[in-house]
Amino acid sequence: MKILAVISQKGGVGKTTLATTLAVAAEQDGKSVALFDLDPQASACFWADRRKSSGHGETPVVRDVNYNRLPHVIEAMRAAGCDLVILDCPPVHRDIANEAISAADMVLIPTRAEALDIRAMSQTVRLVQQLSKTPTVVLTFCPPTGPEIEQARDGIKSLGATLAPVEVHLRKAFSRAQQDGLTAQEYEPSGKAAQEVKKLYDYTATALYRKEAHGETKAKSRRSI
Ligand SMILES: Nc1ncnc2c1ncn2[C@@H]1O[C@H](COP(=O)(O)OP(=O)(O)OP(=O)(O)O)[C@@H](O)[C@H]1O
Ligand SMILES: [Mg+2]
Repeated sequence: MKILAVISQKGGVGKTTLATTLAVAAEQDGKSVALFDLDPQASACFWADRRKSSGHGETPVVRDVNYNRLPHVIEAMRAAGCDLVILDCPPVHRDIANEAISAADMVLIPTRAEALDIRAMSQTVRLVQQLSKTPTVVLTFCPPTGPEIEQARDGIKSLGATLAPVEVHLRKAFSRAQQDGLTAQEYEPSGKAAQEVKKLYDYTATALYRKEAHGETKAKSRRSI
């Protein structure tokens, strides 16, 4: 089982959108997925409620989790044969970020390319590095063109963070999908947002599972989670 934490000390940069989107992408890839909502705002839980009430199913499993219980619930998921746990973290709350980073196999930090976002992203990158993990930054809400994207790419690399090889653009499909508890790739499967999601999922899955892809055996039991 692998753990992907989606964190940023900045609000509104697309954490929950990417967490839910990647959770569905992993399910579409045949994995059993649990999404833990560590945010008191409970946006991921709200999305899952919408998903259920609009008839789009009970999966991925979404649970609101108190960060003090995170190690316990992670172990319960491992015992249940879960393939992937995704942690959706709140902005600002450092204790929750610390817990999530410590538990994670991969830490994904979404950021916009604007100056204040880059500043907050840098702080989040340092927090991850202090805990001896390698942060991966993904640019979100990207405009179609503009010099700030190239500047942001350079800034991210200069921090020693890994830059995800896909940019998520500002696209209505991401927010429209959420009205019914869907994700962009479900809302508009042949759209550009869906293509970006696929690239980001393929990248994260390769990073998370590459050891197994190179021969580690994996006992896979898909009991109910
Ligand atoms: N790439 C995108 N293009 C357009 N809208 C987006 C995109 N990503 C997210 N959004 C929208 O932006 C808003 C904020 O996104 P989201 O809730 O995922 O951010 P967050 O980082 O989780 O926020 P918070 O810090 O409050 O938890 C939502 O309304 C979402 O639908
Ligand atoms: Mg959120």
